[in-house]
Amino acid sequence: MAQQALWSGRFAEGMAESTLDFTSSLDVDSALAFYDVMGSLAHVRMLRKRGIIPEADADSIIGGLRTIAAEMESGDFELDFSEEDIHTNVEFRLTALIGPAGGKLHTGRSRNDQVATDFRMYLRDAVLEAVGAIDGLIDTLVKVAQDHGATVMPGFTHMQHAQPVTVAQHYLAHAFKLARDAERFIDAYGRMNLCPLGAAALAGTTYSIDRRMTAEALAFAGPTENSMDSVSDRDFVSELAFCASQTAVHLSSMAEELVYWSSLEFGFIEMDDRYTTGSSIMPQKKNPDIAELIRGRTGSVIGALMSMLVMQKGLPLTYNRDLQEDKRPLMDAMDTLTKCLTIMSPVISTMRFDTGRMRRAVEEGFINATDLADYLVVKGVPFREAHGIVGAAVRHCIEQGKRLEDMTVEEFRRFSDLIGEDVYDCISIDRCVERRDSLGGTSPASTDAQIMSVIQGYMSREDFVRQETSLIEGAWDALLE
Ligand code: ARG
Repeated sequence: MAQQALWSGRFAEGMAESTLDFTSSLDVDSALAFYDVMGSLAHVRMLRKRGIIPEADADSIIGGLRTIAAEMESGDFELDFSEEDIHTNVEFRLTALIGPAGGKLHTGRSRNDQVATDFRMYLRDAVLEAVGAIDGLIDTLVKVAQDHGATVMPGFTHMQHAQPVTVAQHYLAHAFKLARDAERFIDAYGRMNLCPLGAAALAGTTYSIDRRMTAEALAFAGPTENSMDSVSDRDFVSELAFCASQTAVHLSSMAEELVYWSSLEFGFIEMDDRYTTGSSIMPQKKNPDIAELIRGRTGSVIGALMSMLVMQKGLPLTYNRDLQEDKRPLMDAMDTLTKCLTIMSPVISTMRFDTGRMRRAVEEGFINATDLADYLVVKGVPFREAHGIVGAAVRHCIEQGKRLEDMTVEEFRRFSDLIGEDVYDCISIDRCVERRDSLGGTSPASTDAQIMSVIQGYMSREDFVRQETSLIEGAWDALLE
């Protein structure tokens, strides 16, 4: 077995087939292939520059690695499952291509710092993609808000009619949550964007390596500062799993809302045919399956966070093989999240709001009761007393089967003689919305200001994503040129 070539010296016998099968990570870490080659290119350039290996060998390693990168690009790179992971696969292919000089690549490094470096590079791309997908969805929400600044709907607390709001205010609430999710990813990105390469197995190395050079070549902000931390740190993995979980939770509650808003009972929205599914038995059905799957897949994203935390709990310093289990859950979680974000956009941008239905809903349930209380407060009644007066008026309306605005002034006066003709303006639904012009409130002036702020946020994130992407791509070009 080729496997033994890496460490055969110590062993009299080769590894059992079942050992290899059990310990292999190739099915997962093959996703790191490209990053692994980039990491090796940066490393070997540094070894050459520092005179650690002969220039001729370094050059032939560089040539071999570039060939491997091209093979990966064209799909010709064959994975050898008798090798444990992607790192050994690349090293063996290299040696097959250029001969024994390939064995000099692993000077001054270890798979422990190598895998930590590869995964960070992989995750940088995954985070930039997720941030882009979050902002894509935010962009959709902003458009909804722009179209529906005056569309009134009931705002709920405890799932009971509470106060009238606009659809703009409602969707901007979701937009601000998602904006924080994107910012959280970017914060985590900053902490992760340091290069562990050169920490070697755990203690650093006796070669005069230049870790700043490799970090820069791989577009990291700098090298990590402690070799033992570098090979054992996976808090960037749990942090990203948390970022993904929180985003998925936000998405899930949006999805839940779409499910009940599209029910016959609510009827606030109708989803577009292209983003719904039918029933195999009930011909009338139009099901919100995408929303349900987004809600359902949140479980596996949160699962990734749990498994990352539990996997790290109680690990002694430094590298332990347990750490190999960090990849699949987070890779899957990031992938699931980005897919959910990406499909949510057209679901929302194509759905139709039944504004008439929302209007009728808002006219039920005494949603303007607070406004009547506020009216009395303006006339000098202490709020607590006003609350009691309006409560009694609401009870009267329930008994009479009418709305507050259906009461005559005489009727109102039974509850307070301070109430006059001007009460109707105060409790009209549209005025209830317009008058909530406190900072962050639901008035159109306030939602316009919120829209500006949300747009500014995603524009600055777009700049960040663009800058980082071009930095990373520039690094790859330089290593491959
Ligand atoms: N496949 C391993 C991982 O993903 C690579 C590092 C192996 N290191 C070791 N000391 N066995 O963690």
